[in-house]
Amino acid sequence: MKLCVIGAGYVGLVSGICFAALGNTVVCIDQNEDKIRQLRAGGVPIYEPGLKALIKDNVEQGRLSFTTDTTAAVKEAEIVILAVGTPSLPSGEANLSYIEGAACEVADAMNGYKVIVTKSTVPVGTNERIQNLIASRTSHPFGVASVPEFLREGSAVLDTLHPDRIVIGASDPHVASVLTALHEPLTTNILTTDIRSAEMIKYASNAFLATKISFINEIANICEKVGADVTRVAHGMGLDQRIGSSFLSAGIGYGGSCFPKDTQALIQIAGNVDYEFKLLKSVVEVNQGQRFNVIRKLEEALGELEGATIGIWGLAFKPNTDDVRDAPALDIMQSLLEAGAQIRAYDPIATANFRKLLDSSEITWADSAQEAAEGCDALCLLTEWEEFGEVGLGELNELMKHPIMIDGRNVYSEEQIRRSAFAYYSVGRPQLNNMDVDYQRSVLNP
Ligand code: UDX
Repeated sequence: MKLCVIGAGYVGLVSGICFAALGNTVVCIDQNEDKIRQLRAGGVPIYEPGLKALIKDNVEQGRLSFTTDTTAAVKEAEIVILAVGTPSLPSGEANLSYIEGAACEVADAMNGYKVIVTKSTVPVGTNERIQNLIASRTSHPFGVASVPEFLREGSAVLDTLHPDRIVIGASDPHVASVLTALHEPLTTNILTTDIRSAEMIKYASNAFLATKISFINEIANICEKVGADVTRVAHGMGLDQRIGSSFLSAGIGYGGSCFPKDTQALIQIAGNVDYEFKLLKSVVEVNQGQRFNVIRKLEEALGELEGATIGIWGLAFKPNTDDVRDAPALDIMQSLLEAGAQIRAYDPIATANFRKLLDSSEITWADSAQEAAEGCDALCLLTEWEEFGEVGLGELNELMKHPIMIDGRNVYSEEQIRRSAFAYYSVGRPQLNNMDVDYQRSVLNP
């Protein structure tokens, strides 16, 4: 089939490239000329494992191209996919101006029947608005559909080519059959439903996953007080198939471009129809508080943060991505700066992006995990990059001024900690906090 994808961001680029890999002819469109130039030259504007090779292969096969010319690409396409951003407005509501702008451009370029698909995450009712908007600008026939995207950053190609399910909310049976045929090679569950339900499935799924994370984080906080181990609790819970084992890793909370934005948007969507989504509001509040537990633990360990040197391992909101949007490290480092601490920070790939959002003369940007740890009073592990787990605690002990570790992602095992001299704070594993706080304080402030 002939497709064009409007918006070469995470979702648009990955979906477009994967549809090309499935044998379709795909044109990816973006207004950003630099981005299109980079893609045409074989570059990739985002860090995503596997993407570069797929682009090269599909461009060489003549199935994939890039342009800034929406009109020409729409005229050639049978299926038009809208994948532009829907960032949060200050109210928490999704900003729909980009998607409405793209819909107008599509309407004005129409030259015959098209299936117009929204992949951007949009509030319930938006696809019907888009349908009306397009109908008001063109007399050509068309159908619309909401096909939400569930890919995760860092495993986007894998998720797109091997999804758990495809949800197709279609305006009519013909649209449903065209899009079922498009997705058939993925050999997965294909659910066809109405447009509003499809739009809601996306928000409800992300809100539910965010809820699981905040739930296990609160259980972890209670574990710390009652002497249970949250990793064992999560394991035991996850064996119940009704609960499932995924998304039960306690830590410093979720970040990224989706969960924070989509949870706020769903609270707003509910609020707009006079429904207070109390549970989801608490999920958001718990998530925010969880980040600051790192500061609380540092204060417990060091007493005073002013003048202390704190190492930070990990700036990205999760491993295998250079994305720092709403990363817990932003809030944590901001608090440390406000408390008068010096910071030594390291991330394998996200430092450049992070520095665009937070920079200070009080932060030393290290080139390795070891360099960040040098001379630190305490080290905070904020993103579970694989390379951090490979650094021996003995080696760290030699590098740091005081062997104090706040492990925000429960990376180190009980065995590693027991064999080390570290004062160790994890999330919800109080039996590993092998530190005598009073003793440690007396060493630090004799
Ligand atoms: C998420 C959804 O998984 C995806 O379906 C949707 O399309 C976009 O949003 P993504 O933001 O890429 O994907 O990351 P994900 O791997 O889901 O992690 C989100 C955040 O939750 C990360 O900050 C991660 O550290 C945190 N997390 C995840 C936990 O703290 N604990 C867990 O058990 C799982």
